Amino acid sequence: MGKYALVTGASKGIGREVAIQLAKRGYDLLLIARSENELQELSEHLNSTYHVSSFYLAADLSTPGMAAKVSEWANSKTTSLSVLINNAGFGLWGSFDALPIHAQMEMLQLNINAVLELTHHLLPGLKTQKEAYILNVASTAAYQAMPSMALYAASKSFVLSYSRAIRYELKNTNVAVSCLSPGPTATGFGSRAGLDAFAELAEKFNMPASVVAEIGVKGMFKKKPEIIAGFLNKISAYGATFLPKALIERISANLYRL
Ligand SMILES: NC(=O)c1ccc[n+]([C@@H]2O[C@H](COP(=O)([O-])OP(=O)(O)OC[C@H]3O[C@@H](n4cnc5c(N)ncnc54)[C@H](OP(=O)(O)O)[C@@H]3O)[C@@H](O)[C@H]2O)c1
Repeated sequence: MGKYALVTGASKGIGREVAIQLAKRGYDLLLIARSENELQELSEHLNSTYHVSSFYLAADLSTPGMAAKVSEWANSKTTSLSVLINNAGFGLWGSFDALPIHAQMEMLQLNINAVLELTHHLLPGLKTQKEAYILNVASTAAYQAMPSMALYAASKSFVLSYSRAIRYELKNTNVAVSCLSPGPTATGFGSRAGLDAFAELAEKFNMPASVVAEIGVKGMFKKKPEIIAGFLNKISAYGATFLPKALIERISANLYRL
């Protein structure tokens, strides 16, 4: 039986490209996102181009309890799931007090709770494999506080910190945990976050999603703890951890000014 990988947020952007990278390496795929048509199109593309099996499920992971249903579905499809990619996520631009609280809670539900629940449900199965990998997608925003994207950056700091901690907890098992932090990447992320006014600026720094995905997948199979995509992003993420926090926050606030 072939090895399976589950990718959340597989319908577009980085997740779609990660699914393609895994199919190229011979993995069968379980694809999750809300957009059924895009998932179907990707599934057909993977089957015809890379001759792998793939199944898809249209599911809104920001619905409480959905992660449990997705893991039940995954376990009904295969007993050989050996890669879990927690990629689905979104950001919101605006001040904490101005953004509707329900939208911010929905973001936390997807960026944090769904990651935790899905991983907790799928870990027992991953542990039964010869080798297994978890890749959590954070952001360079994980390395700093970000005025105007306060909860998004905090949610990604959570993902980074949590990934490092469970990686350590699982160090004597067959499961390796990595955290991928992309910087600006050419996807639908900016539009959903309400960052269209900054599109021109982003274009100067955007990396293609395919490049970010390849870096992420290679790093995951090398069992790297933290993978920051791109040289400039590495400098800015590490710079943010060494330079005075007030300075970093001022730069970030000026860049994404409200
Ligand atoms: N692009 C960037 O500049 C950037 C930078 C740093 C980090 N990231 C991170 O990279 C990850 C992927 O984002 P992206 O840039 O590829 O953005 P994207 O093009 O908007 O893709 C997001 C993916 O997540 C899925 N998704 C969104 N809400 C969902 C929900 N409630 N339930 C299930 N799936 C959902 C989307 O599919 P549906 O709409 O079909 O549900 C889509 O497949 C995110 O975690 C993001 O925070 C992105």
